[in-house]
Amino acid sequence: MKELKILAVVVFFTLVTYWGVEPYAHSQMHKHVEGHDFTYQDINASGVKGDPAKGKNLIAACAGCHGIKSQGMKAPMDAMGASAAYGVNPPDLSNAGAIFDEKFLIAFLQNPAHTAKAKPNFAMPPSAASAQDAADIVAYLKSIAPKEVSPKEAYVTACGRCHANSYGKWTQIGDIPKTKGNIKTGNDVALAQFKINVAKYQDKLADYMGKLPPDLKIIARARSKHYLETFVEDPQSHLPGTAMPRVGLTKEGFEKVYAYLESTGDPSKPLREKTGPIVLGFFLIFTLLAYGWYKSQWKGLK
Ligand code: HEC
Ligand code: HEC
Repeated sequence: MKELKILAVVVFFTLVTYWGVEPYAHSQMHKHVEGHDFTYQDINASGVKGDPAKGKNLIAACAGCHGIKSQGMKAPMDAMGASAAYGVNPPDLSNAGAIFDEKFLIAFLQNPAHTAKAKPNFAMPPSAASAQDAADIVAYLKSIAPKEVSPKEAYVTACGRCHANSYGKWTQIGDIPKTKGNIKTGNDVALAQFKINVAKYQDKLADYMGKLPPDLKIIARARSKHYLETFVEDPQSHLPGTAMPRVGLTKEGFEKVYAYLESTGDPSKPLREKTGPIVLGFFLIFTLLAYGWYKSQWKGLK
């Protein structure tokens, strides 16, 4: 009886803390930000229909800064040259039509800094003369977008120019080269040069953004999915005045990026999810066996 009373008291105070105190403390420490499923309600749809063939002729306006590898268009500058010129490397546009929202892109091409809620020094200039031109260019980007974009590709296009991910072996200027540190092949020299370039790029990026964007290797563990979702949808909603732009991902585009963040931040999750039921099953069988043994031991003794 006494044990039951103690249990009741413990349960009572646990529940009071859980339902009474924790939500209060939580709401005081983190403000709750409502997500909008990446619908960008503050942006009006232009209402014009884009023509991909016309967009293709207008894409030269972008090629001065962006590459489109899938169409055989190389970026005019490498990451180092681009960061010296703009502070950041303009992303390759091969996958842009697959992961960014159409309405967002049309507004973005006409008025990038405002649409991205970025600082006035945002390096992408207005690049479409009219809503019609913007819709045509976006229709073209959609027409060349691959059906499947991998989580890593989505990350590289949307976040990779600013955020390294060291567990994913990603730096802002590309993948860390695989080397064996072999003096004779000169691999170690190439790696050292690569590291110097990363440091130089990060210097320019920090000047441009006001600070170096954090390495996102374990952000999927440090922050909840809800936080990341609402933060990427609108960074200003959590950090008013932040230099991180709103990048305009679609919901599916975000899920891709999140899958990548989860794969680097919590690589053992799939294994854990597979092992969990097996362990529980083991405990169940073990309990049944133990119970049977207990019964057999006490048989006839009571
Ligand atoms: C143009 C550069 C840029 C791009 C692109 C960018 N970010 Fe950021 N990000 C920043 C900067 C700068 C900060 C630091 C913000 C601050 O402290 O004000 C930041 C901070 C963050 C943080 C930390 C927020 C916190 O509360 O600590 C997360 C998470 C994040 N970014 C995720 C992303 C993801 C995911 C993407 C791609 C979908 C992305 N960012 C794209 C520049 C960028
Ligand atoms: C003068 C160089 C320049 C030109 C011209 C230019 N861009 Fe950009 N663009 C940039 C830079 C720099 C960024 C990255 C800015 C940042 O993240 O701070 C960028 C970013 C982007 C992004 C990423 C958007 C996001 O939300 O993350 C897209 C998409 C894009 N540009 C499309 C285009 C298209 C399409 C054109 C042509 C109509 C174009 N750009 C013309 C420099 C340029």
